Amino acid sequence: MLRTSVTGITFPNPVILASGIRDETGHSMVRMAQFGAGGVVTKSVGPVPRPGNDLPALVEVEGGMLNSMGLPNPGVDHYGEEVEVAKGAGVPIIGSVFGPDTDGFVAVAEKMASYGVDAIELNLSCPNAQGTAISFGQDPDAVKQVTSAVKAKVDIPVWVKLTPMVVNIVDIGKAAVEAGADAIVATNTLMGMTIDVWSQKPVLANTTGGLSGPALKPVALRCVWQLASSPDITVPIIGVGGITDWKDAVEFFLAGASLVSVGTAVYYEGPEVFGKINEGLQDYLDRKGCESIDQIIGKGMVE
Ligand code: DHB
Repeated sequence: MLRTSVTGITFPNPVILASGIRDETGHSMVRMAQFGAGGVVTKSVGPVPRPGNDLPALVEVEGGMLNSMGLPNPGVDHYGEEVEVAKGAGVPIIGSVFGPDTDGFVAVAEKMASYGVDAIELNLSCPNAQGTAISFGQDPDAVKQVTSAVKAKVDIPVWVKLTPMVVNIVDIGKAAVEAGADAIVATNTLMGMTIDVWSQKPVLANTTGGLSGPALKPVALRCVWQLASSPDITVPIIGVGGITDWKDAVEFFLAGASLVSVGTAVYYEGPEVFGKINEGLQDYLDRKGCESIDQIIGKGMVE
């Protein structure tokens, strides 16, 4: 049985759509659920409409892709109708939010919560937005401040998404937990770049972008394992980064994740990837004689 509960929310299966891929509209999120996503995370939404960065904003590289979309979104005031449509999917909806500062995060999170999402995900880790996001995610005090301010104002679970670009991810996770985070999402993308040797210029209009896909997987897996191994991290971990097939998903559960999200693989493989991962997971549990995913969570840890 793949049904599972994380932060008090019941998911029909533990494989959800990560923020940023095929989740711009309510209809695209419904489609992902129809293909087997156990839940969906919205594209990150901020206080005001943003057109995003200049193109090209996405390029394939060895082992994945780089994107510098620049957090394009219609602004939270216009997002209610997308959530309303997405709710028709019948799976939990997680509203991903970002803001220019603590008050901005709080305002967007409150508005997102008022639309009836099941949880809030704080994107404290976008590598592309100048002056915000990733700088929050790299500073334990900022993570604590934003998380506790949002927790004080919303009464649904708050998930905090971390960047892998820190010296010690446990310090950041601990700050989130102390501030009341209900779950840690590990991890966001790694900042990278690529240069076209003929034009002798960076390929991305923004020069750098977030690296996702298989190349990110060992890094994200290591972050999940470090967080899960720490006695200070007392909340569930949602594993994300390069998960492409059921074996990748199993690795994240074994490292200590309670739920996994899939993003870039949806871009490469199509939404069918959800059904394939779920089938493989069920088969693995059967072969291992396990009745639920809970029985493998953290099993890969050194005792
Ligand atoms: C964007 C946001 C992210 O959180 C990320 O990891 C990569 C790109 C963006 O919209 O630019």
